[in-house]
Amino acid sequence: MEFSTQTTTGLQQLRTAALGVGVFADGVLTAPAEVIDRASEGAISAVLSEFKGKANTHVVLRNLPGVKAERVIVIGLGKQDAYRATGHAAAEQLFANVCAGLNVADGVSTLATVECEGTTLRSRARAMAAAGQRSSYRYEATRTRDLEPAPKLKKLSLWTSRSKAAEALAGLKEGTAIGNGMNLARLLGDMPPNLCTPTYLGETAKKLGKEFKTLKVDVLDRKKIEAEKMGAFLSVARGSDEPPVFIVIRHVPKSPKAKGKAPLVLVGKGLTFDSGGISIKPSANMDEMKYDMCGAASVLGTLRAVAELELEREVIGLIASCENMPSGRANKPGDVVTSMSGQTIEILNTDAEGRLVLCDALTYAERFKPEAVIDIATLTGACVVALGHVNSGLFSTDDTLANELLEAGRETGDTAWRMPLEDAYQEQLRSNFADMANIGGMPAGSVTAACFLSRYTKAYPWAHLDIAGTAWKSGKEKGATGRPVPLLTQFLLSRS
Ligand code: BES
Ligand code: MN
Ligand code: ZN
Repeated sequence: MEFSTQTTTGLQQLRTAALGVGVFADGVLTAPAEVIDRASEGAISAVLSEFKGKANTHVVLRNLPGVKAERVIVIGLGKQDAYRATGHAAAEQLFANVCAGLNVADGVSTLATVECEGTTLRSRARAMAAAGQRSSYRYEATRTRDLEPAPKLKKLSLWTSRSKAAEALAGLKEGTAIGNGMNLARLLGDMPPNLCTPTYLGETAKKLGKEFKTLKVDVLDRKKIEAEKMGAFLSVARGSDEPPVFIVIRHVPKSPKAKGKAPLVLVGKGLTFDSGGISIKPSANMDEMKYDMCGAASVLGTLRAVAELELEREVIGLIASCENMPSGRANKPGDVVTSMSGQTIEILNTDAEGRLVLCDALTYAERFKPEAVIDIATLTGACVVALGHVNSGLFSTDDTLANELLEAGRETGDTAWRMPLEDAYQEQLRSNFADMANIGGMPAGSVTAACFLSRYTKAYPWAHLDIAGTAWKSGKEKGATGRPVPLLTQFLLSRS
């Protein structure tokens, strides 16, 4: 999809297939809506008896007198005093989806001109382009029949004044890259686990390395993983016939500005299928455990975005990828394994495998002397119980890092909620036979999982994102969301 700015002054003169204007709740018109309303002698006011400007609602008005646009799409923005970045992002998404659904070729949005607390024109433009990119995603990789024809939507423009066009363009460029990163993460998530294997993730990383000059990719095979003594990761991988990979994908910018700064490291959980292993999961919805690699997918998506933007900052992605399967070689409850850090772990439940693969990746990260490490994982069902599908769970002992991540989430509408991570919870991981157990019992399951990881992150500032509730949607709309690529990319942009 192509994005540009549109600086025609008289909005009613603008020729486009679809013009998007916002209306707040209780019929408060935004400035662009007012212009169209006046030019059309009250066409928008006339529908306010039915259309109340609630968030996630819209109405399409065709052939308005005095207006050159073929259609005006009135988008509900919700209550004006509660209008924030998330509301704006949702409104742009609705506009883009409506344009795609109407099968028009181009559209112009005025939504980014509307002031919105805690945002800038640049960040609003970013949200608009990301929304446009998202609306163009369709899963086709393994479908042959009944495909809906691809939407004709090719171009979305942001209406603004000439003096602000440069700022808007900068935001559109960032949003384009974020959207591309999200769509990559979504495709990898949605692909079936017989095709999207650890090997396939490795190939995808290598392909990114060919496509973007700043990306250096190294895919470690089982032998090399053994040489690194990643005993916890390997214990999970051993249960499957599918070989594991450990991916190192580095964005190394050429600019001298980036030199001398410690890198930022992202660590992704890459379970291309999690059956639970010997502690096998119930069969209902087990297919959704193909999404257990969404942390890894978000790392690849974010590195793609960072490379497309030529970010002036070294960013390293680490992915530990394997399957968790029951077999004669699989982990058994009671097994004790030795992690790369030397700490021993008693495996009391083979379904708590994410922390076993992550702990070794977190130890591996030490060699880069990172400024900060963030791991991203579909780690616990307990996190879904706690936060549902709205917020990712954020765990960190570093308040500065935590606040930056929360802010990046708010700015992009890809929100996270901070969870506790106190020493008092560590006690639940006590084991009689190893340095720690891999589960902490029923209470606070997502917190004890984070506590487990914290034991491997003493060498650097660290945060953990549990995306079990946010990485994909279930039911009729089943599909990967691409989260938290926006949050991560925004965080990296802010740090650069
Ligand atoms: N991948 C799952 C977590 C998960 C479950 C994410 C359902 C999304 C939906 C993870 O490996 C897992 O199985 N965790 C266990 C931990 C438990 C055994 C301590 C869980 O959450 O049940
Ligand atoms: Mn599991
Ligand atoms: Zn898992």
